Amino acid sequence: MANLLPQLVVPTHRPNLDPLTLFQDAQQVWLEIGFGAGEHMVYQAKAHPHVGLIGCEPYLNGVAKLLARMARERLSNLRVLQGDARDLLDCLAPGTISRAFLLFPDPWPKTRHHKRRFISAETLDQLARALKPGALFRVATDIPDYCRWTLERFCAHNAFEWQADSPKDWRERADDWPETRYEAKALKAGRNCVYLTFKKIEAQAGP
Ligand SMILES: C[S@@+](CC[C@H](N)C(=O)[O-])C[C@H]1O[C@@H](n2cnc3c(N)ncnc32)[C@H](O)[C@@H]1O
Repeated sequence: MANLLPQLVVPTHRPNLDPLTLFQDAQQVWLEIGFGAGEHMVYQAKAHPHVGLIGCEPYLNGVAKLLARMARERLSNLRVLQGDARDLLDCLAPGTISRAFLLFPDPWPKTRHHKRRFISAETLDQLARALKPGALFRVATDIPDYCRWTLERFCAHNAFEWQADSPKDWRERADDWPETRYEAKALKAGRNCVYLTFKKIEAQAGP
């Protein structure tokens, strides 16, 4: 943590931040919100060496686990914000993120805590600003009410469309999407998971 984290830090005080400038030779930048222990981030970083990946995670032990994995695998295309992803979304230059992931967000099951859920009209506005037209945003959850909550908010937002043609699209995880630690726990406990992909709508041609 003392040696590696300062080299990977993502500034959140710089307005209009172009995230490509944080990487040496990345062609595009992907964002993972709440990476937990980082297994999905490391998988994507290894599979896509020309993509720069930014992960946001307030949980200190998760950040430490990601750094250990990163050092073991000698990966250089990862950057870390130990903190709230919404702070980063606020300062990113518009249309600079090519793909984003929110895998198994904290469910906040009690009604009085729903306002703490990561998905909200405000964060969808932030995401719509930060994502490039055509960018994909992947969300997974094992909580049926969070699935309903997410679909309601995305479908009410005019910047996104849900990418699903058949039940297989939300019942089965895509091949390029490895199982996360939280997902493994959910499946072991007998809970079904849903995998949702939304696309940031391309700019409409004028009349
Ligand atoms: C249920 S865990 C899932 C972790 C991992 N994605 C997985 O599938 O194993 C949710 C994670 O989101 C993180 N988190 C919660 N709110 C966040 C926020 N505003 N920004 C970034 N991460 C957040 C939590 O610290 C926690 O590690």
